[in-house]
Amino acid sequence: MATTRTVKSMIEIRPETSGFGAEITGVDLTTDVPNGVFVEIRTAIIRHKVLAFRNQNLDDAGHYAFAQRFGPLEGHINRSTRLDAMPTLQVFGNVDAKGEITGVHPEKGTLVWHSDKSYITTPSLFTILRSPSVARRGGDTLFADMARAYQSLPPGRVENLANLRAVHDWKRSREKSHERPATAQEIADAPPVDHPLIRTHPETGEQSIYIGNHASHILNWDVGDGEALLLELEQHATQVQFIYRHIWQDNDVLMWDNRCTMHCVTTYDAAKERRVVHRAVVKGDRPY
Ligand code: OGA
Ligand code: MN
Repeated sequence: MATTRTVKSMIEIRPETSGFGAEITGVDLTTDVPNGVFVEIRTAIIRHKVLAFRNQNLDDAGHYAFAQRFGPLEGHINRSTRLDAMPTLQVFGNVDAKGEITGVHPEKGTLVWHSDKSYITTPSLFTILRSPSVARRGGDTLFADMARAYQSLPPGRVENLANLRAVHDWKRSREKSHERPATAQEIADAPPVDHPLIRTHPETGEQSIYIGNHASHILNWDVGDGEALLLELEQHATQVQFIYRHIWQDNDVLMWDNRCTMHCVTTYDAAKERRVVHRAVVKGDRPY
């Protein structure tokens, strides 16, 4: 007689006690994750905003295969960091092609709070990161819960922000983070765009403050006044109660929803520590 066996999902989702971020175990991302498990992961990322998968042994092909299940991937505007063999994957770190430490902190824009690619019309949805070389000290990735930050704005503040739009600009963002200037190609690929300062999550309906280093000023406002407002909101949103700190372990995979979070990496000793990240980014939609 034929028997039906139900394979029970072993996935374990452990939410951070703060209510922001979750750790996932019991899933092997190197295998073809069954659809039911994939749906659990998709549900978890919407609910927890940041997911840390421990003990994964992904290579670039596995990383790509997992990431593209969430939707089409996008190459980075900074073409020099694209992986030759797989241009939608990106690599940066302080280790050169020969395996030597460069001593230079790469992509300084990652050291300041931002939401990925907010400087394009359809900013990134999910970013999926792994770190084949993990710094032993520093190099933590910090996240701010921008929905919770929005919800805890002082009464009366929300109404003032409701109809404002922020201008996001890759060129200006590079200047602010003291990176090499944007190239003519990059400026052509990513001219300034404006997005609502408060955006609505298309899947949860939650509202979030949508800012970060790529946001340069407020549309139709005096530039200085806009910068001051953006700074005030960033200081509010990055208070400790809104933060999840990811301390990397070998073989972690970290994933986040850019629509309702900001992130940055903490400094590390780029002359001594080796830190390399590989990333895949899922294309998003136009914020509203
Ligand atoms: C990114 C990023 C942070 C890190 O990949 O988008 O900002 O921890 N990285 O390297
Ligand atoms: Mn980033």
